[in-house]
Amino acid sequence: MTHPDPSPTPGRHLYRATYLHTPGNPFRDAQVLDVQQDGGLLVEAGRIVQNGDFAALARAHPDAVIHDLRGGVLLPGFVDTHVHYPQVRVLGGLGMPLLEWLDRNTLPEEARFSDALYARTVAQEFLSGLALHGTTTALVFGSHYAGAMEAFFGEAQRSGLRIVAGQVVSDRMLRPELHTTPDAAYREGLALAGRWHGQGRLLYAVTPRFSLSASESILDACAALLRDVPGARFTSHINENLQEIRTVADLFPQARDYLDTYEQAGLLGRRSVLAHNVHPQDRELAHLAAHGCSVAHCPCSNSALGSGFFPLARHVEAGVRVSLGTDVGGGTGFGMLKEGLQAYFMQQLMPGGRPLTPTDLLYLATRAGAEALDLQDVTGDFGVGRSFDAVLLRPAEGTPLGTVLRHAESAERTLAALFAMGGAPDVAQVWVAGDTVHGGPAPVRAPL
Ligand code: GUN
Ligand code: ZN
Repeated sequence: MTHPDPSPTPGRHLYRATYLHTPGNPFRDAQVLDVQQDGGLLVEAGRIVQNGDFAALARAHPDAVIHDLRGGVLLPGFVDTHVHYPQVRVLGGLGMPLLEWLDRNTLPEEARFSDALYARTVAQEFLSGLALHGTTTALVFGSHYAGAMEAFFGEAQRSGLRIVAGQVVSDRMLRPELHTTPDAAYREGLALAGRWHGQGRLLYAVTPRFSLSASESILDACAALLRDVPGARFTSHINENLQEIRTVADLFPQARDYLDTYEQAGLLGRRSVLAHNVHPQDRELAHLAAHGCSVAHCPCSNSALGSGFFPLARHVEAGVRVSLGTDVGGGTGFGMLKEGLQAYFMQQLMPGGRPLTPTDLLYLATRAGAEALDLQDVTGDFGVGRSFDAVLLRPAEGTPLGTVLRHAESAERTLAALFAMGGAPDVAQVWVAGDTVHGGPAPVRAPL
């Protein structure tokens, strides 16, 4: 039976597709790309219960509702590990380095989120930006305002996406209306986490903006919040821009380096994700690895803001886990395929860069992000037990990408073409836990 309704019905669903995923880490293990040309994913209550060859699964489960997704490529939903909710409307502000870009382009917009109605409208714009690019899970840098975060979490819950997010806190060096106090940072964060952390697909992330805008006291308040919200994640920025790094060194004369400002506060662990790290010291890499932290690499942002080349090889050699982030709005949009391509370009161009394979790019855009968020048992690949979080890429007939895919002679070639040429127009449907969150079959129209 073919099932035209995009909303899941009870029972078993068998998705028939060419699918590709990376159940392992290609920076560590060999041969992690799993390819099924005529594959099947058997899904029950939103979770994958069997995977493999379609014909075999169809024979074994004649009762399953079949969803025929042939003619495209099915990938695990993308995981964006660094993306700013209040920066959608300032995307594309090119031509400035980080600190000037914050002052002139970005912080004036972020101040508008004191208006919760405005915040709700932008939250909708932001969440649809994620879904229509095939992102199913995101670690979201929030707003400085608790009311804006309340609106955001409400919209995030309605969107069906997996969202890890928190109120951003700062108590110096930005603009007064974006500053809070350590006490309010703790109190408001605890209240938001109490309402939203662990609700459905939502998790809370403790989020000081960066050490440049944080006193030791507010970092301590963040550590207290992290301790008092079991399962909360931690995220911030690090080592993005040379001027920023010099200022942080002046503000924290006791700190051994930038990482130490977070380390001394007790903010580092397996569920900590630091964005950028373009200019790390060796000690910082060693300690990031020892704490099990992840670094969110944001190559479009690093290019747009002229922050520098990301030393991926040094991260991999030190054993630091790396995932990808679009860094909307320092980056150039929500596209994780584009982000992968830019990572590839920059490693090609930088002296000592690490050449990235198509399999590396798929891993970075999917499973690496799930690992960074400690959600690898939930999402990031099509293994048994994972949630059915997926993106169907199906370029329109006659498009150059459609032509290339039709003639692709290997799975690597298919993947390379998707990263080189794919984007939102090619995203046909997106699912989280078996629920369609974007696209799907065209609605059946009643005859006129
Ligand atoms: N460092 C502190 N705030 C920001 C931000 O909004 N974007 C980027 N790219 N870096 C930051
Ligand atoms: Zn950022």
